[in-house]
Amino acid sequence: MSQLKIGLAGLGTVGAAVVGMLERRAGEIAARTGRTVKVVAVSARSKSKDRGVDLSAVRWYDDPVELARDPDIDVFVELMGGEGDPARAAVTAALQAGRAVVTANKALLARHGLELAKIAEASGGSLHFEAAVAGGIPIVKTLREALGGNRIGRVSGILNGTCNYILTRMADEKLAFDTCLSEAQRLGYAEADPTFDIDGHDTAHKLALLTSLAFGTQVDADSIYVEGIRSLTLADLEAADELGFNVKLLGVAVRTDEGIEQRVHPTMVPKGWPIAQVSGVTNAVAVDGDAVNLTLVGPGAGGAATASAVVGDLIDVAKGNRGFAFGLPVSALEPCERAPMQRHGGGYYIR
Ligand code: NDP
Ligand code: HSE
Repeated sequence: MSQLKIGLAGLGTVGAAVVGMLERRAGEIAARTGRTVKVVAVSARSKSKDRGVDLSAVRWYDDPVELARDPDIDVFVELMGGEGDPARAAVTAALQAGRAVVTANKALLARHGLELAKIAEASGGSLHFEAAVAGGIPIVKTLREALGGNRIGRVSGILNGTCNYILTRMADEKLAFDTCLSEAQRLGYAEADPTFDIDGHDTAHKLALLTSLAFGTQVDADSIYVEGIRSLTLADLEAADELGFNVKLLGVAVRTDEGIEQRVHPTMVPKGWPIAQVSGVTNAVAVDGDAVNLTLVGPGAGGAATASAVVGDLIDVAKGNRGFAFGLPVSALEPCERAPMQRHGGGYYIR
């Protein structure tokens, strides 16, 4: 049986969970793909930290870019995070070498996704990022492949597990914002810099990727109106509750006659709506197509859920399912024309 050799950079919440899942499911993955999928080389900052997984037989690299250039790997998995180097340099190096790259790094993709997809197309490499949007929910594949026959009018949802966890616990248990954020960090849900979560930028990064996949446009995170949950108080949530609403941080992208409207902000969602009941770290993504409307709900963050998406991409790579990162060749992606934001009751209500 041939081997798919993985070089994996980043052994934190997600990276360690991926190594563990590949070990535990080795037999099933081999049966599905006809190949043994094996981590052969890794990189992280600390060589001595206990990761809870067996790394005794793998090569160690201090420099993830050197790992990405290792000629003995077939696929480079980037799970370090951050939109700049070393993640950007390492992913670029792996793609330039014609490798498959799997990443969960939405910040990197929201800023440099087009440039990276272009490199992949030119070199015969490929770029896979199911884990970058909504954790364990397979929304990337759904938009890119399963709904490819639809004209999509809108994609929206709860895209950040940390914020939904904070808002749920504040509303249900009357806990303070900072207490809930600390707990989300302890559970491995939050970004290394949690301001990305609470100020809405992580949701915006994910929305930028969904917009590209749904509408066939170039990734354009700068076109998004972004407002986070940092200033929300218990009193705000209680007032919403009395009026019959739950507050959710939503990302919404709508196709309009003037272009694509993209926005991220706390939203008053009527309690009777299914999305209002999505609680804790759970995410939900609703897609309105001309043939199919659907909502996918599932775990939006955490090691196991995110590893599930990463391993799904690795199974695709092992089977030779490559394709275009954003569903179309980069040259066919339209510029993302920014439509003016429609204000609905001050911007905080949802139609
Ligand atoms: P962590 O902070 O837990 O882990 C980051 C890992 O990267 C650590 O092992 C760290 O090493 C390593 N690392 C950081 N900088 C370097 C560097 N310069 N050189 C080598 N290694 C480095 O992050 P997560 O696992 O939570 O997240 C990883 C990625 O997955 C991010 O892009 C994140 O946005 C994304 N993601 C995370 C989810 C989650 O629920 N946590 C869900 C979906 C996506 P060391 O351990 O030695 O410090
Ligand atoms: N910090 C992110 C979240 C991780 O809480 O949703 C998953 O992308």
